[in-house]
Amino acid sequence: MFGNLQPQAPDKILALMGEFRADTRQGKIDLGVGVYKDPTGLTPVMRAVKEAERRIWETETTKAYTALAGEPAYLQALSSMVLADARDDARTAMLSTVGGTGAIRQALEMARMGNPDLTIHVSDPTWPNHLSILKFVGIPFVEYRYFDAGTRGVDFEGMKADIARAKKGDLVLLHGCCHNPTGANLTLDQWAEIVAILDKTGAVPLVDLAYQGFGDGLEEDAAGTRLVLRSLPDALVAASCSKNFGIYRERTGLLMVQVADAAQKDLAQGALAFLGRQNYSFPPDHGARIVQTILDDEDLAADWKAELEEVRLGMLGLRQQLAEELRNLTGSDRFDFIERHRGMFSRLGATPQQVQKIKEDNAIYMVGDSRLNIAGLNRDSVPILARAIVEAGV
Ligand code: LMR
Repeated sequence: MFGNLQPQAPDKILALMGEFRADTRQGKIDLGVGVYKDPTGLTPVMRAVKEAERRIWETETTKAYTALAGEPAYLQALSSMVLADARDDARTAMLSTVGGTGAIRQALEMARMGNPDLTIHVSDPTWPNHLSILKFVGIPFVEYRYFDAGTRGVDFEGMKADIARAKKGDLVLLHGCCHNPTGANLTLDQWAEIVAILDKTGAVPLVDLAYQGFGDGLEEDAAGTRLVLRSLPDALVAASCSKNFGIYRERTGLLMVQVADAAQKDLAQGALAFLGRQNYSFPPDHGARIVQTILDDEDLAADWKAELEEVRLGMLGLRQQLAEELRNLTGSDRFDFIERHRGMFSRLGATPQQVQKIKEDNAIYMVGDSRLNIAGLNRDSVPILARAIVEAGV
């Protein structure tokens, strides 16, 4: 029965995690997987999360199933945080998901139920697992230009021209903020232009919002997504709580599907519940309950926002320091894009050989496409990285 199994190519990001763990060199630096680390190298449990867990432990009286689409209070609380007044209750179906990846997967299955002939348009580059999931579920994809290798910013003219080619009923996958893997993002004016193109073509956006609060702030990072929902009839939004609540292993996400009217909403809600039931039945609840406990309590929410803001500002400080070190070492401003990028990642623009050299010579690990996780640095390791980048000839 298992005769057809083939070896699977390992996920590059996860393989790098394993390689880093196996490296016995002192002072090794992990800039690979997108996990936040504080200056001591720990991924802390946030204060508000600890307190919420304590409260849940004290007050929870049952572990019986919650609703098939997820706990309604969680759906309300998180969608309010993400969408604010851009949420149109009469037109929005929601599903609590197994992390942000689960939201993406369900979004794709849902879109295909709605339109079996769809093509999805993805940024070049995008998170490698987007492509892996698309190949696995068998949805055809085409890439739209996104990253300008020269400026390390967005190739906006290329992006617009390519998205204009999407057909009615196609999906266009957009990163809501903190583009993974490049760190290059759209301005709100550019979002407005993309929305106008989508409106004209009838293509439907699927926004992957995995890093809200890590870029310019909680509200700012959701502004493009909210504009999409206010402006277009149909849209899907996949939100993750892994990073901004630091609850990676709890697998907490949310899929929001905005449709044209209330009748379609009932169909969409039914389809989401059906998909959940087919895949794993009820969604996990612990992470969702943590998030809802925090968001529904004014003091806990304020403390969570304050800690998230410390994290965000810490990463911005590291960006500034790295750009400055590289300015001093090279006598040029050609690495200033690191300061302009937002979120956990920046694509450095190094060749795979240079990435390899940096790893071999300095035990500094970044993804092969030269994506580095800024949150893996601290004040002391920034100068070490800057020197390694220059020595590798980047
Ligand atoms: C990343 O891009 O590193 C994260 O989203 C973690 C993952 O699952 O790949």
